[in-house]
Amino acid sequence: MAFLSSVSVLLISAWLWLSSESCVAELQRFQHPVKPKGSLSFLVVGDWGRKGQYNQSKVAFQMGLVGQKLDIGFVISTGDNFYEDGLTGVDDPAFNQSFTAIYTAPSLKKQWYNVLGNHDYRGDVEAQLSHVLREKDKRWLCLRSFILKAGFAEFFFVDTTPFVDKYFTDPGDHVYDWKGVSPREDYLSNLLKDVDAALKKSNAKWKIVVGHHTIKSTGHHGVTKELVKQLVPILEANSVDMYINGHDHCLEHISDKNSQIQYLTTGGGSKAWKDDVHWWDPKELKLYYDGQGFIYMQMTQHKAHIAFYDIYGRVLHTWNISKELHSDA
Ligand SMILES: *[C@@H]1O[C@H](CO)[C@@H](O)[C@H](O)[C@H]1NC(C)=O
Ligand SMILES: *[C@@H]1O[C@H](CO)[C@@H](O)[C@H](O)[C@H]1NC(C)=O
Ligand SMILES: *[C@@H]1O[C@H](CO)[C@@H](O)[C@H](O)[C@H]1NC(C)=O
Repeated sequence: MAFLSSVSVLLISAWLWLSSESCVAELQRFQHPVKPKGSLSFLVVGDWGRKGQYNQSKVAFQMGLVGQKLDIGFVISTGDNFYEDGLTGVDDPAFNQSFTAIYTAPSLKKQWYNVLGNHDYRGDVEAQLSHVLREKDKRWLCLRSFILKAGFAEFFFVDTTPFVDKYFTDPGDHVYDWKGVSPREDYLSNLLKDVDAALKKSNAKWKIVVGHHTIKSTGHHGVTKELVKQLVPILEANSVDMYINGHDHCLEHISDKNSQIQYLTTGGGSKAWKDDVHWWDPKELKLYYDGQGFIYMQMTQHKAHIAFYDIYGRVLHTWNISKELHSDA
């Protein structure tokens, strides 16, 4: 009897712990300092890890030059960090061959903030999230979803892969590592609740959401309907300034006719030139570049400057947003 009741106490406390965890689980938070003059500058690259191939090394080289010239403070990766199938484990040499040994420029020896892409989910996801990799290369930080506060700006990193129905219903030959994601319905609804709550609570001047999958894209994969339905209402309700993603292996800037949100695709970290483009309303489409490259961004309290670079270091497109005056080109 005494034994039974202690078992039930244990069960009740386990249940309380689980239910409180699913209600009030908060996204992990990190901080990055602004520069002494009150600005932030960083690069954003996605879809890169191919052991230097498909011009990954050339993109990395150019990132190093631009990063040096513009004195960046950190790098954001929009996922698909390791092709084709993520990492096999914490000892997979691909971590070195596709990351450490590629982004060797001094200007890139800064903190990297990474999310996961669908290809990362085809390997050992927990390896990429592990402290072992952070020890191997101090720049590395990858979590499923998290928040980065950098002075006047706040970045909300969202794990978008589990939103996409076809990876569950029609995975083809691919095996996805859904450990830590199931039950899927709970995972997604908790994540959306957490992102919404964090955005509501934020008093940052700039709110930037980062995920792997496209929301507005004229490229191969096009729009991700699950995100349009589930994430976009949250972005719109919380005056998010930008959504930055990879997934399509190109560079894109699409403005939204109905909101202030700027949609930026930076999936040009290695293999590109897909030659598969769909029609998009020219009033919204500011840039589509079917090739390799990355984004540079500089921000102050009142202004954001976005520039898209190609593999030669040419500026393909720029865009400035001013907080007082509204967006100007
Ligand atoms: C790599 O870049 C060069 C230009 O430097 C280009 O000619 C070549 O087609 C690119 N290769 C791939 C695989 O994208
Ligand atoms: C990382 O890769 C580079 C280039 O392939 C190699 O020279 C180096 O020894 C590797 N380092 C580790 C720790 O494996
Ligand atoms: C945008 O901002 C950058 C950097 O502050 C500046 O050099 C550039 O002249 C601005 N461009 C426009 C069109 O306002």
